[in-house]
Formats: sequence, structure tokens, C-alpha cells
Amino acid sequence: MDSNDIRFDKSGLPNISYSNFYANPSYVRTLSLLVGVEAASLANAKILELGCASGGNILPFALKYPDSHSIGIDLSNDLIAFGNEMKLSLNLSNINLICCDIMDVDTSFGTFDYIIVHDVFSLVSDEVRNKILAICKENLNENGLAYISYNTLPGWNNLATIRELALYHSNNFEEIPEKINQIRLLFDFVKEAVKESDSAYAKLMLETSELLNNKPDFSIAHDFLQPHNKAFYLSAFMEEATKVGLQYVVDAEITKMYIPNYSKLISEKLGGIEEVVRMEQYLDFITNRAFRQTILCHNHQLIQRKIPMDRLVDYFFKMNLVSPPEEDILAEELNQEAIFYLNNDPEDTVSTKNPMLKAIFEVFSENNGYLSFHDLVSLSANKLPEVNFSELEAQAKVSLMDLFLKGKIDIRADFISINSHEMDTPKVWEYVTAQTLYLKQKVVTNLFFESVQLSLFEYYLVRYLDGNNTKEVVISKMLDHFNNGELISSYKGTKVTSDEKLRGIISLAYLDALEKFREQALLV
Ligand SMILES: C[S@@+](CC[C@H](N)C(=O)[O-])C[C@H]1O[C@@H](n2cnc3c(N)ncnc32)[C@H](O)[C@@H]1O
Repeated sequence: MDSNDIRFDKSGLPNISYSNFYANPSYVRTLSLLVGVEAASLANAKILELGCASGGNILPFALKYPDSHSIGIDLSNDLIAFGNEMKLSLNLSNINLICCDIMDVDTSFGTFDYIIVHDVFSLVSDEVRNKILAICKENLNENGLAYISYNTLPGWNNLATIRELALYHSNNFEEIPEKINQIRLLFDFVKEAVKESDSAYAKLMLETSELLNNKPDFSIAHDFLQPHNKAFYLSAFMEEATKVGLQYVVDAEITKMYIPNYSKLISEKLGGIEEVVRMEQYLDFITNRAFRQTILCHNHQLIQRKIPMDRLVDYFFKMNLVSPPEEDILAEELNQEAIFYLNNDPEDTVSTKNPMLKAIFEVFSENNGYLSFHDLVSLSANKLPEVNFSELEAQAKVSLMDLFLKGKIDIRADFISINSHEMDTPKVWEYVTAQTLYLKQKVVTNLFFESVQLSLFEYYLVRYLDGNNTKEVVISKMLDHFNNGELISSYKGTKVTSDEKLRGIISLAYLDALEKFREQALLV
């Protein structure tokens, strides 16, 4: 097999195993503690994932937390076998990946602090769905949390039409790769066929064709070729969850629950609705929401819907800010406003005239990774010796809560350390190397359980960053990939073949890649 080929299972589906940031116990705990639910510590957490595929959610967690214990079950023998190859390569003994039907889970599996059911609930029969809810009740510890994602109405109404069209056409073909190819061709045709019309239906078809173009094969197979695909209103889902004794904690995309993120009219009309599920159900109708990631707990827990500001004092914060180029700084001086680009995106900025918030933003721009509340405030205070410390603390609490609920800042209940120092022999997290070597993936999981896209150069590079190789050694090894044609470098349309020139190009690309790996939490 070419080392650059994605692996496929027997049905012809690509075996790609991503970590879903929202489904990770680390984030589930972060959100649940905010609303006052005492979630179990991550260090020795017990986790069950139903329909875990190759274990993309729980394998990185097991590696990061060696005293935790995870069980993942999936019907697909192939996927479990891929996961077990990864487990073996990472030498993990704190995770069991088992080929088993959700219907066969019983109390003998034990009880768990976290139960994850990501991208499964909508794709199974009513019988399996009922069983999933029963497991989330019966196999959940006293303070346990269950995460279930599902396709949501009314947003899925439109997608259901598209799925039916895709199924109708692809039923004429046997193999999954051909079905996927045919779905892409079909939507190219549909796009052309409706482009003259300005009907609402034509608009829907155009938008969906664009959407499909950007989806990878596995995601088309998953959304459009599964035999079951049922969407739910939040209220209907919660009715079923309530029947088994579970209650709503929070949606993993918490910014969508925050009423001030919507228009003034929506805030006024819906902001007063006490019952959270009811308020969110109205929001789903207005926003045509198509997907939900619901966190549930036992119904005896007390949930604090109004988050006390002081709770943030125990959290860690990350904001990827950079100062804008000169011209924007001039505008900033004119307006006496500090502007920063979020995630290097000039379209996504934060700005302030408040000197305390400006100092906080500056601290973020100077630091990679997560900062504790205390460190953030102390470092900001160093920039403002004239400001009273408790005044700065109070400002930080208000601003951080607001930034979080607007989706501008990442927060964590637990500190995750990364290596952001320059090293002579850098080391990439073993999980990333295993993802590239065993699963042939270019989308990898970082230490924060986020997905990071690698370029082809970076994909080959990570395998040599094992903490033992100097830059010169790595350059020689990367040169082989250019010489054997796996990587190509060209200048003004002509392929660069001289080893000396290639070494220079690799050296620069190596430095760029390391900077990215440091920023993206891939180094240990
Ligand atoms: C779309 S995939 C989601 C995989 C994984 N949770 C993730 O986040 O990437 C759905 C998975 O559910 C599994 N599945 C479906 N029905 C199942 C059942 N009754 N018991 C166990 N696994 C099942 C499938 O084999 C498939 O791997």
C-alpha cells in the first residue's frame, strides 16, 4: 500500500477516525461544571462510547490520561480492528475496543462517568435508540454525564429531501465508492439544472450542492447512504430522555443557547422563557437547526442555569490573538481602540477601548495554550501597575464570560500542558504520528482534542519528529520523499531536483511547520 493512501474497510468506506472536540469528556466536564454539575475528574474517569468506530474519540483520551479507563463498542469488526491496531501501536492497556451490538450492553459492563454517543442516535433503529437511552440511564454513575448527538428538526427536513434524492439515484449502483461518485455527479447536474430558477427549492438545491462539494467521501456516505436516518425536535428527544429519568444539562455548542447572540427582537421575545428546552426549541425553529449535541445527566442533579461569575476563577483560557498589520494599528490609534485578529483571521476581530481588556488581549497574544485565571490576571496587572488588582479581576470575570458565550474564547476546567519551547530534537505527540502512520490521515488530533489539518509535507514530517532527530537528520529523511516523488517542489513551473536547493527549501518548510505544530498543540 502506498504510504499516502487512506485505508478502507471491507464495505469500501474510508476508515477515517476523527476526534470530536465537543464529544470529548474534557469538554463535556468543562461545560457541566459551569452549570454546577460535579463531573468526575478526567485523570481516572471511566468512559463508555457506543458506536465508537475506530475509537477516534477515546483513543487520544486514553493516551493522554493513562489512569482513565475507556470501553468502546462498535458493530463493525473492521473498524474495531483498525482501532485495536492503533491501541497496540500506542501500547495502551487502559482501553478496550470491542466488536459488539449496542443491544447487548447490560449492567455487566459496569457504570461510567462519561457515556459518548456521537453520530449514532439518528442512524439506528427505534429499538437501538431506546436501548441507547436506557444505557445512558442504567450504566451512568451518580454524577455521570451522557453526550448524545443527533440530526435535528426542522433543519433536517431540507436535508432529508436531498438524502432521498441521493438514495434514489445511488441505489442503482453496487459499490460504495461508486455510489459516492454518482452522488457527486448527480449534484453537479442538479446545480446546473436549477441555476436559472429563483425558486426557494432551486436555492436549496444550489446551497446543498455546494455543501456536498465540500464534504469528504466518508461524510457523504455517513449522511446519505445509511439505511436509517431519523431527525428529532429537541423537545421530542428530551421527552424520551425524561421518560428514562435523564435531564437536560446543556448543549455542547453553548453559544447557540446564549440569547444575547441573537437579534434584539429574539432576545426580547424568547429571553423570558424560563424553561430552557422550550426556549431552545423556539430558537431551533427560527434558526432551522439541523444538528444537536446534547449533554444529559440523572434527573436528581441540580442545574444552575445562571452561571455565577466566580466559577470562572477555576478555569483555564485560550485565545489565539495576533496584532494586526500597521494600517489597522493606525486606525486603532485614531479610534483609541485596540484591535486583534482572532485565529489569524482578519475577518474575525476583537477590539476594545477598555485598557484592562486591552491588557488581557495583549497577554493572550503573547501566550500560546491555556492560561489559568490567576496567571491571566497577574500578567495583565503587570501591564497596568496603576490599576487596582481586584478591579482587574472583576473586569476579567465579566469579559471572559462574555467572550466565552460569544464563542470567542476557549475555556477548560482542566489544564492541558503543551510544549511551546524551541527544541533541538522536537517531539510530536505519539497519537498524531500513529494517526498518520496507521490510519494514513492528514487530519490529526492535537493535545486539546481538536482536529488539525496537515499539509502533505507535514504529514511526512511528523514521523521523524520523535524527540531524537536533529534538524539536519530530519532534512535528510525528508529529502528522500522528494527524491522518490512523494513530495514535489517546483520553482516557476520547473521541478526542483538539486539536493542542495531542496535542502534549503525543506529547511524553511521545517521551521514553518514547527511553528505551526507549537501553535496547534501538536508537540509534547
Ligand atoms: C457515523 S459512525 C460514528 C462513529 C463515531 N462515534 C465517531 O464519532 O466517529 C456510526 C457508528 O455506529 C456503529 N453502529 C451502528 N449501529 C450499531 C449498533 N447497533 N451497535 C454498535 N455500533 C453500531 C457503526 O458501525 C458506525 O461505526
